Formats: sequence, C-alpha cells, structure tokens
Amino acid sequence: MTTALPFTRTSNQQPATPERVAEVLAKPGFGQHFTDHMVTIRWNREQGWHDARVEPYHSLELDPAANVLHYGQAIFEGLKAYRRPDGSIASFRPLANAERLRASARRLAMPELPDELFVDSIRELLAVDARWVPSNAEESLYLRPFVIATEKGLGVRPAAEYLYVLIASPAGPYFAGGVKPVTVWLSNEYVRAAPGGTGAAKFAGNYAASLVAQAQAADKGCDQVVWLDAVERRWVEEMGGMNLFFVFSSGADAKVVTPELSGALLPGITRRSLLQLAADLGYGVEERRISTEEWEKKAGSGELTEVFACGTAAVITPVGHVKHADGEFSVSGGVTGEVTLKLREKLTSIQQGTVEDPHGWMVPL
Ligand code: PLP
Ligand code: COI
Repeated sequence: MTTALPFTRTSNQQPATPERVAEVLAKPGFGQHFTDHMVTIRWNREQGWHDARVEPYHSLELDPAANVLHYGQAIFEGLKAYRRPDGSIASFRPLANAERLRASARRLAMPELPDELFVDSIRELLAVDARWVPSNAEESLYLRPFVIATEKGLGVRPAAEYLYVLIASPAGPYFAGGVKPVTVWLSNEYVRAAPGGTGAAKFAGNYAASLVAQAQAADKGCDQVVWLDAVERRWVEEMGGMNLFFVFSSGADAKVVTPELSGALLPGITRRSLLQLAADLGYGVEERRISTEEWEKKAGSGELTEVFACGTAAVITPVGHVKHADGEFSVSGGVTGEVTLKLREKLTSIQQGTVEDPHGWMVPL
C-alpha cells in the first residue's frame, strides 16, 4: 500500500530577505525564528491522511471547542537537518522520529502518520526552505513536527479530526553556555511520569507538567531538573528534554551506563545512537537502573567519572554538579570528561558529515 500523498504548494510571496536570513543564521538561538514555509496534513475518519500542503508560515485557525485546547491531545517530535561540507543537506535518523511519533500517537489514541509521509513532509519543506539550513558546523535546522486534535466538541473521547504540522527553526546551542557543565536539581517534590502514564510518549502535557519543577530547580540555582521514578523517588529517569548517561571508570576500562527504559522515560534517539557509538569506541555499555544513592556515593569515591545529558536539541551536555533536598555534590570536579567529549565528537561529526556514517543514519534530503 502506498502512503504517499501529493503536496499542494503555495509559495510565500513575502519571504524573509537574504539579509534577514543571514542575520538570523548569524545568531539563531533556539526556537525563536522560523522559516518561510510550513507543512500541514489533515486527518479525518473518512479520508485518513489527506490534504497535504506546503504553505507560507502562518497562524493556525482553531475552533475554540477544538479538542486539543481542552483535553490536550498533542504530540510532537524534534529532529535536525544539517548542512554537509559539500553543501548538501541530510537529517539524522528521521525514520526513528517517525516511528516514535507513531508510538506517541498510539498512547494518546491519535492516528498514526505513515513514516513515508513524515519523511516526505521534511523533504517538501526543505525543497523550499533550504536556505535556512545553517552552514556553521555547530548549527542546524531544527525540525518540529507535531499533531493536534482539531475536532470541535467537548465530549471526552479521541477526536475524529487531526492536523499534522511541520515547522522549522534554525538552531544554535540549546544551552547558552555551550558545552559548559550544567548543574541539576534532583526533583523530590514533583514527578514527571508514573508507570502506565505518558512518560514514554513525546506528549505536550509531559512538558507542561514539568514547568513548575523546572522553576523550582532555577530557584535552587540549577539549570535543569532530573526526574526520579514516581514510586520510590529513588531511581534516576531523565532530564527535562534529555536522557542521562553515567560513565564509570576511565580510559580503556570506561563503562557507559544509561537508565533502562522504564516505560516512564522517553526513548531518546540520541540515547540509542550513543549506546551504539560507545560500543563502537570499545567502551562497555549497560542499560540498568541507577539510584540517586549510587550516583552520590560513586561520584564521591571517584568510581563514577562523568555524567552527561543527551538529546536532539541539547546534543551532549555534561552534568558537573548535583543539588538535592539534603545537600549537593560534584562529578569529576565539575569539568567535562574525556568520554563525554569523545562521544560528542563522534556523534556530531557523523551528523555534520565530516566522517563516515557507519550505521547509515544520515538521510539525504
Ligand atoms: N527526554 C525528553 C523528555 C525529551 O524531550 C527528549 C528530546 O527529544 C529526550 C529525552 C531526548 O530524545 P532525542 O534524543 O530523541 O532527542
Ligand atoms: C528535542 O531535543 O528535540 C526536544 O524536543 C527537547 C525539547 C525540550 C526542546
């Protein structure tokens, strides 16, 4: 069965001037500027996915009774397109994002967008907005696909109409400090997700629910929240928009450990890729539970040598310092470790197209 759809294209008659594009690309920040176009695809019960369009970037018109505004059926993805040294553009593992969007859709009782249509939507957008992909190696075009329930009505049930939208935003470093180690807060009051909940889905409500804890972390002088399991408040899950990695020992003996997928944390594509790259580099790798006691005790004894967070937006960000309700501690003296830097270099050079792509992760667009 083919899942392809024809896209109706309407060009933006007032695109940003070349000077404006250059100005934005000189200092893109994160998520503040958007390209000239967007993609939309509609879904209803009768027609399934239909009416695929590339249009000038515009506001959405929604009925005030649209289901998403009341009961929150909203899921999203985040991936990046990179400019390669030869000027071509490629994105990193887009099929993995397509698959995760479908998994999120299943959890939120929403229709699944076929993978082919997901990738086609990216190609269609880049065909008209390629000039927005930065050529600076540390920058990329962040792609934000999302799906919302648009049916009018206040009954609590899965909506019968949905809208898929793809927008794109030139992106520099997610953290203003670049690759500087961050300080994290172990959240003891709030939890992000419980067993059986929506934690493994990229569901908008997970992020809304995290904001008060993020504000609490900022009050404690921390950059980010680390979420713990909802039942024992003891097992490390992930950060606000990133998965966590722990490095034990060093040199040839280094072992890279990440919390196992508990069902309450997001299965990150960067996480999955780094497990592979760590093995390629000859490090031991393990997915298992890690407690806050183990983190503090082994950071103190020196057995735990590095901790870092990873995700599409944040890439790889070292964690230097940890605060919790009863105290604080540092990991490896608060400096960025060797394994963190090696993995970062390996991942970003594959993404930027400056080294061979042994796993075929980059998809030319
Ligand atoms: N955890 C959460 C809660 C996230 O929002 C993200 C970002 O997408 C990640 C982890 C990392 O996932 P990925 O590596 O697929 O970007
Ligand atoms: C991403 O890394 O793509 C995310 O969605 C994280 C988000 C919190 C910016």
